[in-house]
Amino acid sequence: MRYFPKNFYFGAATSGHQVEGGNYNDWTEWERETATRKAEKANQKSWPDYILRNFPGPLQKENYISGDACDHYRRFEKDFDLAKGIGLNAYRFSIEWSRIEPEEGKFDEKEIAHYREVLEALRGRGLEPFVTLWHWTHPLWFAEKGGWEAPDAVFHFSRFAGYVAKSFKNDVRYWITLNEPGLWASSAYFLGVKPPEKKDFFSFVRVYFALLRAHRVAYGELKNIDGDFQVGMAESMSWNHISLVRPLMLYFKNYFFIARSKKFLDFIGVNYYRPVGVYFHNPPRSDMNWEIYPRGLYFILKHVYRSFRKPVFITENGIADAKDAMRGNFIKKHLSEVSRAIEKGADVRGYFYWSLLDNFEWQDGFWSRFGLIEVDYKNQERKVRQSAREFTKLIAEYRKEK
Ligand code: BGC
Repeated sequence: MRYFPKNFYFGAATSGHQVEGGNYNDWTEWERETATRKAEKANQKSWPDYILRNFPGPLQKENYISGDACDHYRRFEKDFDLAKGIGLNAYRFSIEWSRIEPEEGKFDEKEIAHYREVLEALRGRGLEPFVTLWHWTHPLWFAEKGGWEAPDAVFHFSRFAGYVAKSFKNDVRYWITLNEPGLWASSAYFLGVKPPEKKDFFSFVRVYFALLRAHRVAYGELKNIDGDFQVGMAESMSWNHISLVRPLMLYFKNYFFIARSKKFLDFIGVNYYRPVGVYFHNPPRSDMNWEIYPRGLYFILKHVYRSFRKPVFITENGIADAKDAMRGNFIKKHLSEVSRAIEKGADVRGYFYWSLLDNFEWQDGFWSRFGLIEVDYKNQERKVRQSAREFTKLIAEYRKEK
């Protein structure tokens, strides 16, 4: 059995738009506009195995509309009961900006009260909240002004961040300003696969640097409210099999943002799913055909720690596996790599599985199943998966070691 520090957080993560249901933001609009087109496109192609393994097709346009999602907005207490039952002691979620500030400068106290209930429900069950302030969605007014390309974007985000942090000063210790800014900006502004579907390198760069400034400003804002807040951001990190291009990828994808935010980070959030680069054998793959490579997490953790000497949380790691045939082993193997990294000196303080629930996987919709808990979208029934039970056992064993 491997080593985990005593106060290690074993958690799960979600984001507002992917689970809450009933949101009204820039994604909601985009989903409405594009759902039919996406379903048609997906059904026309019979996706070859090397793109998607277990693509269930044919898909209806409903697959691409977040709608009620998991109705987590109303069912959060029951979901937290299940999380507690799994043995988790932390939960990462995002506060939906479009709910808190539906109109520019007007903050909705009813929604603040809602998230206060969420936080109380977590505390009451011994789940430490990790709050994300931006997980890819925007109030419509913000998007209409030009989103992150607008000159006052940073001001608007940091005002929202400050408002939320003040409201929950006594309820939250761990804050994540931004989730995967680089991945999001490149797919929304350069590859054009997320709203606003732009394909313009210069827009991408503009947006990326606005997000960098937004992180810094929000960090300052939060630390002014309470110097004890622990404030970080979550970055999408990969490992590259090809050693020749690896340094380039580490520099641009994994570290570019963090290296420029060093003085504005109390911890680093690592989101790790898969490696990139061609591997000359047939590795195991998820339903989305993502390669499963747990050792990559070990390399990343060691590398991140050596490069920045900051506490690290694995803020996301997960697999789309509708049959639940691989998930148990996926978690076990990744945790074992985490413990190896800790043994080698990396200061890793928590692991959040993505995701607590099956949910709305952005432009791919509902078909991929990431949850520890299976969701039946017809009646919102939940079923704790066998892999979650295996996770429970693992957590118990790891805790016993201490
Ligand atoms: C995102 C999640 C997403 C997950 C799986 C991450 O990049 O933060 O919102 O569901 O990957 O694709």
